[in-house]
Amino acid sequence: MVNEKSFVEEAIQEIRSKLTDRGILACSGGQDSTLLAVLANRAAGEKVLTVFVDTGLLRKGERERVEAIFRKFSLNYRIIDASDRFLSALKGISEPEQKRKIIGKTFIDVFEEVAKEYGARFLLQGTIAPDWIESGGSVREVIKSHHNVGGLPDKMNLTLIEPLRDLYKDEIRDISRFVGLDTDVQPFPGPGLAVRIIGEITREKADLLRDVTEIVERGVRDEYTDASGRPWQYFAVLLPIQSTGIHGDKRTYGNTVAIRMIDTSDAMSGTFTRPSWDFLDRISTEITNEVKGINRVVYDVTNKPPATIEWE
Ligand code: XMP
Repeated sequence: MVNEKSFVEEAIQEIRSKLTDRGILACSGGQDSTLLAVLANRAAGEKVLTVFVDTGLLRKGERERVEAIFRKFSLNYRIIDASDRFLSALKGISEPEQKRKIIGKTFIDVFEEVAKEYGARFLLQGTIAPDWIESGGSVREVIKSHHNVGGLPDKMNLTLIEPLRDLYKDEIRDISRFVGLDTDVQPFPGPGLAVRIIGEITREKADLLRDVTEIVERGVRDEYTDASGRPWQYFAVLLPIQSTGIHGDKRTYGNTVAIRMIDTSDAMSGTFTRPSWDFLDRISTEITNEVKGINRVVYDVTNKPPATIEWE
């Protein structure tokens, strides 16, 4: 376990010494990159531009939530709506690693454009230990290329600074609390809903999954009112499977969503949450009643390993 105060001091030192010119920072709104944005702001103020990209694969209200944090910490930031660009780059792509690589590349393209405009020479990234360990940075094989590692083009024109690279998720949470960030934020992957839409991604599918995700997140908050007792991560996955159902007296042929809830401390391994049947009944009923096009809900009962937390 790291000491929060000394980690913050060292990270600020590291940023100050490496950042010899302007830098940009990729903030996805997740705990890791938000912490980095706050640290970079403390270390270098206006010398760092925090960029938040709306990929079209975010949850409902995410952009507004993130902007409120940027304002609260008085960051130097820019919000870019690149949803058309991401969704068209992903058109026709179903293979998970290809999706991640396309998203990674599009992210970098967007950043490079902003960086050029801003005159940045550095890219600060919130890469943490599980990202590089699982991206083949150590003895382990490549499991998933996390966008903030595997998708980076070889000839990037920006110099990378990764002050959080040796931290694990639980340490990130402690340090975030220490600097005054809300830690009641569950992790959300950089590629966003892309890795939760199995098969080809479309805006319609993303909209559907946004509606389901909102129901799951609200349901979990209502069920586990004490934040400390909540599962570590909870979300829905849209499956490329249709099945027969019944609505009123009519036959339906609709989509299936899987609910994934995981208990873990560091995301390296974990067990599926055992919620009550009543809770599952409530969210399943709400999803099938409220979200047009979904007529079946399943619950994922797989631990990590053998499964990863995300489905892709
Ligand atoms: P997996 O699916 O590998 O996920 O068991 C472990 C944790 O990492 C998150 N995750 C990501 N985070 N970029 C990120 O910043 C990514 O590409 C990415 N993929 C997975 C996942 O949500 C879980 O918390």
